[in-house]
Amino acid sequence: MKFIIAEDSRKVGKKAASLVAQEIKRKPEIVLGLASGRTMIPFYKSLVLLSGKEKISFSGVACFNLDEYVGLGSGDKNSLRYFMEKNFFSKIDIKESNIHFLDGKEKRVRETCKKYEKEIKRAGGIDLQILGIGRNGHIGFNEPGSGFKSRTREVKLSDVTRRDNSRDFNSLNAVPRKAITMGLGTIMQSRRIILLASGRRKAEAVSKSITGKITEDVPASVLQRHKNALFVLDRGAAGKLR
Ligand code: GLP
Repeated sequence: MKFIIAEDSRKVGKKAASLVAQEIKRKPEIVLGLASGRTMIPFYKSLVLLSGKEKISFSGVACFNLDEYVGLGSGDKNSLRYFMEKNFFSKIDIKESNIHFLDGKEKRVRETCKKYEKEIKRAGGIDLQILGIGRNGHIGFNEPGSGFKSRTREVKLSDVTRRDNSRDFNSLNAVPRKAITMGLGTIMQSRRIILLASGRRKAEAVSKSITGKITEDVPASVLQRHKNALFVLDRGAAGKLR
């Protein structure tokens, strides 16, 4: 599995943004898979800056976000849709109709998930998937135990994930217990994958994912089976690589 080490979280974002910008230049109608989370903030910031500087347009780009909390709508400040709007979509020229998102308010979850898979297929599949990683090795919201062939579905969030993500909510109790996420099988079908991780708290999960056993206990370890996956790490996140 390939990885590169940047100095700090800002440089991780910058490096990943320059890789994505190159891909958009090569294929202006690219289909991107996008992620949320704190690690992504410097990445989106850099990508917005770079697109201004290098006059890269997102008008042909389509995107699919990985996941959403069940029960939260786009207007909810803690929804992942809101995060994306604030940090990225509102700052680029992407067409609203090209933004695909799982709706956390949708009652017919199964249909929503099936429809999402179909939409990805119809768009020609994901060319480049961006990922973060949880402390327990989750990607998207695929918690330990998720099947390697899993597809978009509703999942129960683990205690670690709820605790980690509670920093954005008023209390732990306010963190949704469920989410909808693309599956590991869905993610693995992307043509290229770039995973970003920064900080020492991610070091254990990163090391297990890159050099550990491929096991459903560490969801990101499945990426070892992908032909074109790259980890972009800062020194902290790379700290336990042997
Ligand atoms: C969330 C998201 C993941 C993200 C992870 C890490 O649970 N569903 O897609 O990778 O957390 O988030 P952070 O970057 O805030 O550590």
